Amino acid sequence: MPSNAQRQPVALAESDRAERPSRARVLVVDDERSIRELLGIVLRREGHHVIVAENGGQALAVLEREPIDLLVSDIRMPDMSGVEVLKAAKARNHDIAGIMITAFASTESAVEALRLGASDYLAKPFDVDELKIVVANVLERRQLRRENVLLKRALGSTHAFANIIGRSEAMLGVFRLIETVAPTGSTILVTGESGTGKELVARAIHCNSARHERPFVALNCGALPETLLESELFGHVRGAFTGAETNKKGLIEVAEHGTVFLDEIGETSPMMQVKLLRVLQERRFRRVGSAEEVEADIRIIAATNRDLADMVAEERFREDLYYRINVIPVRLPSLRERREDIPLLAGHFVEKYSGRMGKPLRGISKDALACMARYSWPGNVRELENAMERAVALEQSPLILPESLPETVRRQAPAAAGVPAEIPSDGFDLERHVRDIERRYIAAALERASGVKTRAAEMLGMSFRSFRYYVKKYEL
Ligand SMILES: Nc1ncnc2c1ncn2[C@@H]1O[C@H](COP(=O)(O)OP(=O)(O)OP(=O)(O)O)[C@@H](O)[C@H]1O
Ligand SMILES: [Mg+2]
Repeated sequence: MPSNAQRQPVALAESDRAERPSRARVLVVDDERSIRELLGIVLRREGHHVIVAENGGQALAVLEREPIDLLVSDIRMPDMSGVEVLKAAKARNHDIAGIMITAFASTESAVEALRLGASDYLAKPFDVDELKIVVANVLERRQLRRENVLLKRALGSTHAFANIIGRSEAMLGVFRLIETVAPTGSTILVTGESGTGKELVARAIHCNSARHERPFVALNCGALPETLLESELFGHVRGAFTGAETNKKGLIEVAEHGTVFLDEIGETSPMMQVKLLRVLQERRFRRVGSAEEVEADIRIIAATNRDLADMVAEERFREDLYYRINVIPVRLPSLRERREDIPLLAGHFVEKYSGRMGKPLRGISKDALACMARYSWPGNVRELENAMERAVALEQSPLILPESLPETVRRQAPAAAGVPAEIPSDGFDLERHVRDIERRYIAAALERASGVKTRAAEMLGMSFRSFRYYVKKYEL
């Protein structure tokens, strides 16, 4: 069961946090007066504009009247539930964020609230620190989401590449380039290491082109032997070779007026290179076994993770073909070159897989993010995506913790310290030793978190409540 205090539902690294979204319009709904007042006082002191409602009916009236950024609502209220209020609020404005307040005993309803669209929850009794952190995090995430949407809108591409995640300068450059080159119809060469999103970008280019209603056909040139590749691409006529019992259209014909994506173009044989050159130069081709020339109205986008210029120098790739393909190069940065995108990508994948697996999660712990920030990601975004899918599947707590990351990613995590290698000959007091270690860690975490217990608790992977217990126990 999710414990209430492994906080920091951060899909954002510290560096990614823009200044706090300063003043939000918050609607507080609770039938308990003391809670309403507490929320009102704390949130106003944080600089927000707070409106309070005593029940669902009043809340709906406010929502009709005023734009609201954040709804903080009790779940159980006499007239309607907080989740219903949130649903109604989202129907009016899908951008609104929601925090649900649950009775301590019912973590299930909290999980249910997350499933139904709440951004986070608070379990009673909560303390002021906890409230502030949860609210700030939810508002920050909302802000980031909005910036992303605005950014893409500014680039004029809300739909076409909403699925390509990235806010780094390098990726913004890629977005701009896609926008510029997509409508031109030119041949494009997408380069980048494995897993950097070359196919994703090729599809985005197609979707932003005049050909977007026609097929996008992908062919992996590295996966097929030469003869098969040829008949796949150009088709064949009956009797062209043993087994060719009927005429078969090749992908170039299937993709007519659309786009053919030639993946791993660097793997093609010299013979195929000649044939491809012909398609690119003359826009004509022959089906295997046929003398007839057919017109090819297709756009070609090629991709490779090899250095084609090097291959040309080594005479392993035709220079003339290289120039035909490399009309407009689009180079995708490796993930190492855009580390600032890691939290955003990781958050995106956690959302994707937690949705798919029906496992509501709040996000990624800071420690897990720190491991990911240090790691080199040789498999780039694909490796990150796989790591997040695995982590979502394994995670038992509401936050992705370092333990759920693959061994390679968290290798640099600090090892357990202070364990005596052997027992002294005259024995020793284990319980006291353990208490001592415990006390030191609790004190250190408290200090590192500048006294904010929720943060300190998270650092040690424990619930707020357990942490509070230890603080009392050791009189810290
Ligand atoms: N910027 C991104 N935003 C979201 N998902 C991404 C991004 N880049 C890559 N991915 C995801 O990572 C995976 C790998 O992407 P893709 O297949 O496009 O990489 P590739 O460069 O073609 O790799 P390879 O060279 O190994 O074929 C896909 O699941 C893709 O959806
Ligand atoms: Mg690929």
